Parts: sequence; C-alpha cells; structure tokens
Amino acid sequence: MTGDNEQGEMIREGPAYRSKDRVRADRTDELYKDIPEGDVLMSIKDLRVVYQTDDTKTVAVDDFTLDVKKGELISIVGPSGCGKTTILRAIAGLLQPTSGKITIGDKECTAPGSDRGMVFQDFALFPWRSVRKNVEFGMEIAGVPKEEREQRADRYIKAVGLERFADSRVHELSGGMKQRVGIARALVMHPAVILMDEPFGALDAQTRNIMQEELVRILAKTERTILFVTHSVDEAVYISDRIVILTKRPATILEVVDVPWPRSRDRASPDFVQLRKHILEELEKENVMDN
Ligand SMILES: Nc1ncnc2c1ncn2[C@@H]1O[C@H](COP(=O)(O)OP(=O)(O)OP(=O)(O)O)[C@@H](O)[C@H]1O
Ligand SMILES: [Mg+2]
Repeated sequence: MTGDNEQGEMIREGPAYRSKDRVRADRTDELYKDIPEGDVLMSIKDLRVVYQTDDTKTVAVDDFTLDVKKGELISIVGPSGCGKTTILRAIAGLLQPTSGKITIGDKECTAPGSDRGMVFQDFALFPWRSVRKNVEFGMEIAGVPKEEREQRADRYIKAVGLERFADSRVHELSGGMKQRVGIARALVMHPAVILMDEPFGALDAQTRNIMQEELVRILAKTERTILFVTHSVDEAVYISDRIVILTKRPATILEVVDVPWPRSRDRASPDFVQLRKHILEELEKENVMDN
C-alpha cells in the first residue's frame, strides 16, 4: 500500500464517511447527487456575525437568509466593508457565526470541510510548486492515488486552458493564469459548493472580462454551485443566475434579483444595461460602487 493510499484509508475512515452515503473527501458533490438541479442545496438561515474586539463590538452581518439551489451561481454585491467576506468566511467555517445556521443538504456546517471549496482574491497558491502540483495539492491531502490525481489534474488544467503551462512554476505565471490555477484547484476537488471572494478583483479589465468568459465556459461543462462575491455590478450581471444586493454594514439583504437570460450575455443589450442600472441605483442609495 502506498503512502497515498494509507492516507486515503485513514481519511475514509473518518466520521464523515460512516454515514450511509459513503463518499470520498475529495468528491463531496457525490453526497448530494440525489438532489436535482434547481433544488435547494445550501441553506443559510438568520446568519449574524458580531466581531468583538477589546472594547468594541462590530455587527458585520445580520439577519442574512438565503437558499442556494444546486447548479446556481449567485453573486453577492454590496458596499465596501459591509460584510461580504465575513459571510463567505462564516459559510467556509473559518469563523464561528454569533448565531444562525448553515446547512448543505441536511448536514450542518460548523467547521471547514471539503464540501466547500474556496477561491481567494490573492490566489493563495504555492509559488514554487508547478501548476500541476498546485492543482493536485488538495487531492494529495485527501489521499487520492497518484494516477487518479494526475488524470483529474490534467482534466481541470485543460478546462482552464493551461495545458501548455502544467509544468511551469506558479510564480512564472501572469495574474490571470494564477487565478485559473486557483479555479482549477477548487473544481478538481468536486466540492458541493464553491465560494469565491472577488476572485478577479486583482486583474486588469481586459483579463477580467476574459476570466468571466472562462468561468461561464467552465460552468457550462462542469455544473457547479457557486457563491461569488464581487465589487463589479457588470461582472455580477454577466455571470450570475441571481444577484444578492446587500445593505451597508451590517450586511443584510436589500434585494435578490433574478437574471433569467442564458449565458453568454450581451453587455450592450437593453435588458443588461437596464438591470445593471437598477442594481447600481440600489447600491448608490447605500454607498458608492465600482462601474
Ligand atoms: N477579524 C475581524 N475583527 C474585527 N472586525 C472585523 C474583522 N474582520 C472584518 N471586520 C469588520 O467587519 C466589517 C465587514 O468586513 P468584511 O471584510 O466582511 O467586509 P467586505 O464587505 O468583505 O469588505 P470589502 O468590500 O472591503 O472586501 C468591517 O467593518 C470590518 O472592519
Ligand atoms: Mg471582502
């Protein structure tokens, strides 16, 4: 038995795998394969987060309730500092909510887990590892056997258009390419839900548009459930099925907007322009936003 397999066995014997729905830690979407597309996959109920420092209390999120359907891409937009990252961190299990409940399927999320994959604005990659080794990292930890790891990494490296760079070290890549590695690394684990915190925020406008197009293309092939935080209303309207507009801090839901048109979308179409204008006007009542 290889080290990989030993580690894999160890992980597979953990408490998460004693349920009747046995599934590997690197494929949590399979746990929910019986939930049809369009039914609720993740439920966030009455989320409230209060940061307590020495002498001050900051209410960052209050009364936040949202059902995310399987296969849906929901964007969250809101004024700077209103609590968007806090919402994602609470869902990821990186901070303990003051109150409220987050569930995926019928499982409550109280700690980080491989059912939620996160893509960060600052890439959070290993600069000296190759693209392939970055994409394989989570699978290594989960004990996926080498051959399967390589096959899956290849598939997602190809999906994000980096096959020619699979053996390049990440520090040699451009910002847009690094972000593709971050996306491949999240997708390859097949998490039930992917959380993205302004993943394209550090990119120039042209690369950003290309990445939005890439994401739409990848989604068409891979059917993922995504919660996507952005400062750009234009980006939100371009990629989302629904858009959650937040108030200024503490973040509460001002409005949830449906975007019913198929992708790819025409940014110059009257419907697109009108919806973008409506969201910007709502946000301007709260604060100032980009484009
Ligand atoms: N660890 C922390 N301790 C105390 N206060 C915090 C902490 N993290 C965030 N805050 C405060 O909570 C509020 C919400 O922060 P958060 O980072 O969630 O906002 P955001 O909407 O993501 O902002 P941005 O648009 O700038 O990314 C802010 O007032 C911030 O100062
Ligand atoms: Mg933030």
